[in-house]
Amino acid sequence: MDVNEVKDRINENKQDIEDLAKVIANLKIRIRVLEIGFKKSNFEGGKIKLRRNKIMYELIDKLVVKRHEISYGIGINHKYPNENMVRLTKWFFPKRGKVLDYGFGPGENLLHLLRIGHMVAGIEVSTEARKITEKKLKEYPLLKKRCELYMLTKNDKRLPYKSNSFDYILSNQTVYFLNSEKKIRYLLKEFNRILKPNGRIIISMMSRFNRGCTAGKYVGNNCYEYFADGLSEPNKVYIVKDEDHIRKLFDVFKINEIGYFDNYYCGEAGHHFVVLASKSNSVKQVIVRNNTCLVAFLSKEN
Ligand SMILES: C[S@@+](CC[C@H](N)C(=O)[O-])C[C@H]1O[C@@H](n2cnc3c(N)ncnc32)[C@H](O)[C@@H]1O
Repeated sequence: MDVNEVKDRINENKQDIEDLAKVIANLKIRIRVLEIGFKKSNFEGGKIKLRRNKIMYELIDKLVVKRHEISYGIGINHKYPNENMVRLTKWFFPKRGKVLDYGFGPGENLLHLLRIGHMVAGIEVSTEARKITEKKLKEYPLLKKRCELYMLTKNDKRLPYKSNSFDYILSNQTVYFLNSEKKIRYLLKEFNRILKPNGRIIISMMSRFNRGCTAGKYVGNNCYEYFADGLSEPNKVYIVKDEDHIRKLFDVFKINEIGYFDNYYCGEAGHHFVVLASKSNSVKQVIVRNNTCLVAFLSKEN
């Protein structure tokens, strides 16, 4: 929609916007308007049915899957959980709950979450990673009972879980492999959807100080290509520049903190930003007039 069209729509719906302003004032809380849109509605049995025109994206990238299959196939594995995730989850996920480990890889973070008492769901795209993780889980039948794994395919346009079903989500060194801002934003919305109210999320994002960026080649749209061990074709990743960039990308959440972890040895620079965030308490407000809905997503500012 261009600016003039928006102005026209606002003029046409002036009364609705004034009504909405009153609703906002009555809420007596500081709020942020996340999104305002207009949708044609139809009425059925007195109830409003909003037409769903949400754009959906594939949640996987075929080439990324292929490259991870090769890496795990040639023996890439971890024997320990990521120490930063051990510390962060202990602090930011304080109670036992239901956790999603998105991009569980060789399964060490997932096993750690099980060991400290969480119920864990894991998502992966690499069958080799799944094999490695299942082999490890077999050794711990009691932990395995509290764990379920799911393989995403190109047919998955949504995460396979109900809304408001997770206390926590962890996604370490994974989200940027989607290498498209639109897809990443879409995935983040999906994360927000499946989190319970006040649910929390930890996501690490490759930064411009990481070898993936410093030794990589810029290929446009904040994406870089770099060669990882054993790969004849490059990995493509989405790089976040700074905190401002992260705040915009993650605006679906309430951000608690943005930090980073780093290492530099054996020619590797492993700098990643870490985003600690919570589900935003957004409220959908719908005002109907003349068969048109004004839809606003309002978020309480804490
Ligand atoms: C660098 S590894 C990190 C693994 C694990 N999170 C860890 O901290 O050890 C990235 C993992 O993300 C998986 N992956 C890549 N793209 C994905 C996607 N779109 N959805 C879910 N997992 C993905 C890869 O198969 C790989 O196992």
